[in-house]
Amino acid sequence: MNPARSMLLAMAESAIWRRVLTGWPVTRRVVARFIPGERLDDALAAAAALNARGMRATLNPLGEHVHDTAAAAAAAAAYMRILEAIHERGLDATISVKLTMLGLDLGSEVAAGHLRAILERAAALGSFVRIDMESSAYVERTFAIWRPLHRAGLPVGVVVQSYLRRTPADVEMLVAEGASIRLVKGAYAEPPELAFPVKAEVDRAYVRLLERLARPDARQRGVRVAVATHDAAIVDRARALVREQDLRDWEFQMLYGIRRDLQEQLVAAGLPVRIYISYGSEWYPWFMRRLAERPANLGFFLRHLLG
Ligand code: FDA
Repeated sequence: MNPARSMLLAMAESAIWRRVLTGWPVTRRVVARFIPGERLDDALAAAAALNARGMRATLNPLGEHVHDTAAAAAAAAAYMRILEAIHERGLDATISVKLTMLGLDLGSEVAAGHLRAILERAAALGSFVRIDMESSAYVERTFAIWRPLHRAGLPVGVVVQSYLRRTPADVEMLVAEGASIRLVKGAYAEPPELAFPVKAEVDRAYVRLLERLARPDARQRGVRVAVATHDAAIVDRARALVREQDLRDWEFQMLYGIRRDLQEQLVAAGLPVRIYISYGSEWYPWFMRRLAERPANLGFFLRHLLG
């Protein structure tokens, strides 16, 4: 892995760096580019603005890894409040949840219980919930929690990461289940035994997975695909597949504030686009992963720091 990327991903997990960097006003100025604000109202206003520009949204309150049952229950209640607020405002928006926020580190049954309650609320409101995929240690448990809820007909989807060597096999399992799948490259620091260390390999794996998902059996089984990337070459390849195979229900997804030009181009071409809006006070590890994704972001940060 690129040394700057490894360093930034290690800093994302470091309490000391968190204290140092979150104390700098410059960090907050740079963060504002990726996050509309710290409050739910900020995220709802951003979603309304995106809806007005023809884009759907998915809301992600920032936070990870809770270590007590009260915090997991509080996170579950917060996710439900977001679903209610989206419904009250009539927004075209869903939510993206992290199982570690729902207590996955306390036991799968804790997270699964909270997730079921959230999904039942989402079903009643006609909404949808995507389970974000976290680091490789959680992949197996995430699918194990997702499977019975999906089979029960609840409105839930998962994410697969093209950097993981195991993902082609997971995609076969998900196709057989008729899953709703968001395909991403992957944002965590992973060892080379588990993940491709070279970016070009991750990109090639992504395209192979897209091509697999475009095969007719996936559609016949009711698979829904979200192409989540800002990689213009991959977006072009996905657009070609959509055209050739008439995959009108494929959705393109991007992060708030990243490649707005590409987001607009897709909307102008009449393709469905959903923007992932993160918000909240727990932005530090999320922000560090965004810096790690793109060295130019680090340059942007350092320029603000020096200027
Ligand atoms: P890549 O990193 O190759 O970037 C392609 C181009 O996009 C860059 O050249 C640049 O132009 C632009 N770009 C990308 N990142 C940028 C940034 N931070 N700032 C500015 N420009 C940038 N990961 C995960 O592990 N689990 C998950 O559940 C999710 N969920 C998720 C949802 C959605 C909607 C998206 C778009 C992404 C995720 N991710 C994720 C993150 C994903 O794994 C990946 O880290 C990022 O999308 C960056 O990879 P790209 O596919 O954009 O390609």
